[in-house]
Amino acid sequence: MKNDIFSLKGKVAVITGGYRGIGKSVAKSLADAGADIVIWDLMDATEVAKEISDEFGVRATALVCDVTSPEAVEKAVADSAAAMGTLDILFNNAGIGPHTPALELTPADWQKVMNVNLNGVFYVAVTFAKYLIAQNKGGSIINTASMSGLIVNIPQSHTHYNSSKAAVIHMTKSLAVEWAAKGIRVNSISPGYIATDMIKEVRQDWKDAWVSKIPFGRMGTPEELGGAVIYLASDASTYTSGSNIVIDGCYTVV
Ligand SMILES: NC(=O)c1ccc[n+]([C@@H]2O[C@H](COP(=O)([O-])OP(=O)(O)OC[C@H]3O[C@@H](n4cnc5c(N)ncnc54)[C@H](O)[C@@H]3O)[C@@H](O)[C@H]2O)c1
Repeated sequence: MKNDIFSLKGKVAVITGGYRGIGKSVAKSLADAGADIVIWDLMDATEVAKEISDEFGVRATALVCDVTSPEAVEKAVADSAAAMGTLDILFNNAGIGPHTPALELTPADWQKVMNVNLNGVFYVAVTFAKYLIAQNKGGSIINTASMSGLIVNIPQSHTHYNSSKAAVIHMTKSLAVEWAAKGIRVNSISPGYIATDMIKEVRQDWKDAWVSKIPFGRMGTPEELGGAVIYLASDASTYTSGSNIVIDGCYTVV
């Protein structure tokens, strides 16, 4: 490529939930495209940051941050900017996905999922946007929604999860419009079934039922999400905001 519009060289990306799974894999993809990396997670991801910096020759660091705490998120933005000099890209990805039928949900179960998957994503997006605006610069925010925000999965029941992800898709569109004139783009990805630790412990007969409904005949890998996030983070997508890229092996098409 004469002009590499996908390059993230000179950019700094924050990845929430980057200790493992989709966050860790996408952090590697962003580093491969040249970005310096800051991982936030409930878990200490120092070793993951070292692995990324050794493998891709970028700067990488990790902070422990619970995205459900607005105070912790404010501190994490300030500390990340101080450590890296600037921030440009946010992969707003931390989430949880318990399976509980609605009739068995306690108010606390409902609130926990909403707190991490919706409130946390909102706190991080808004705090990151305030930082960009204060620096008088634009940036790119990519939220991890899910195909569960578009369809209802079976045989498992998780109305709380589905509702939180549907809200993330519409929150993404709303923020994209609010911040369009500020040069901050906001998009989401909606993965289908992706083979990560999150679903490792799911009963095998459910996983078999999922795969039988996927036209590709298999689950996706976290690595298969990296290209879309690089696209949305980079200058390849300067006119794209408020979009939701579905990456699901055709699950939602049929
Ligand atoms: N795996 C799938 O099939 C799939 C499909 C669609 C969407 N998603 C979404 O992708 C995202 C990542 O999923 P995954 O499969 O990698 O899950 P995962 O459980 O493997 O990883 C999630 C990471 O988020 C972190 N985390 C959880 N709560 C947090 C909090 N309050 N603050 C900070 N970090 C927190 C965890 O410690 C973990 O490292 C989630 O938002 C999930 O809903 C996953």
